[in-house]
Amino acid sequence: MKGVILAGGRGSRLDPLTEVTNKHLLPVGREPMIWHPVRQLISASITDILVVTSTEHMGDIVNSLGSGKKFGCQFTYRVQEESNGIASALAMAESFSAGDKVVVLLGDNIFEYSIAPHVADFTRQEKGARVLLKEVADPQRFGIAALDEKQIISIEEKPQSPKSSYAVVGCYMYDDQVFDFIRQIKPSARGEYEITSVNSIYIEKQELEFGIVKGRWTDAGTFDSIIEANLLLVVNSNRILV
Ligand code: G1P
Repeated sequence: MKGVILAGGRGSRLDPLTEVTNKHLLPVGREPMIWHPVRQLISASITDILVVTSTEHMGDIVNSLGSGKKFGCQFTYRVQEESNGIASALAMAESFSAGDKVVVLLGDNIFEYSIAPHVADFTRQEKGARVLLKEVADPQRFGIAALDEKQIISIEEKPQSPKSSYAVVGCYMYDDQVFDFIRQIKPSARGEYEITSVNSIYIEKQELEFGIVKGRWTDAGTFDSIIEANLLLVVNSNRILV
């Protein structure tokens, strides 16, 4: 299993904090934000990790993370020249993944507990994809899953009238079909190659499974959520619970 951390984007919702730096280098608790997804992947024994970020801040990201030696992992870096969506950033991982399954983390997603049990479930899953869900108070901000008793029947990106309060959080697990599916999708109304469009293809094929996130979770892409992320990590000194 390989790991991919997506750390691109303009971070415009955090201006002026992101005027001169990458969102993923802002402090969360005692560490730069991007150290959290690194620690998450390592907690799930994934040590071969690709980091995708924009040209502008690649130098600073590499300065912060280094080779991986200090974390006990190995980093590969790829530059995303255009900010045109999560799926298009993930497309850059095709040669790196080399046919293996991948666990993809959005660099601004913070979890109280380790993702390791979900990765173990995905290891046992013969094929397809796996997403993680968490109930949220503000579903209009996220990809939202509609569920029947056992499965996800649809996901809508930032719906005006959400069908549930279950957000699809920024931890996605894929088999190697994902890169073909990314080639099939079209940009959304906001001009982005949405990860939700990729997950919807897995739903059509009845190959999308899910787990529920234990404990607290937040993104850190807005002023309110980055404060929440700080509160979440500071209590355990950035330690991830198991
Ligand atoms: C992205 C995804 C969304 C997901 C969220 C989790 O949203 O598009 O489906 O629920 O991450 O953090 P964005 O952060 O780009 O608004």
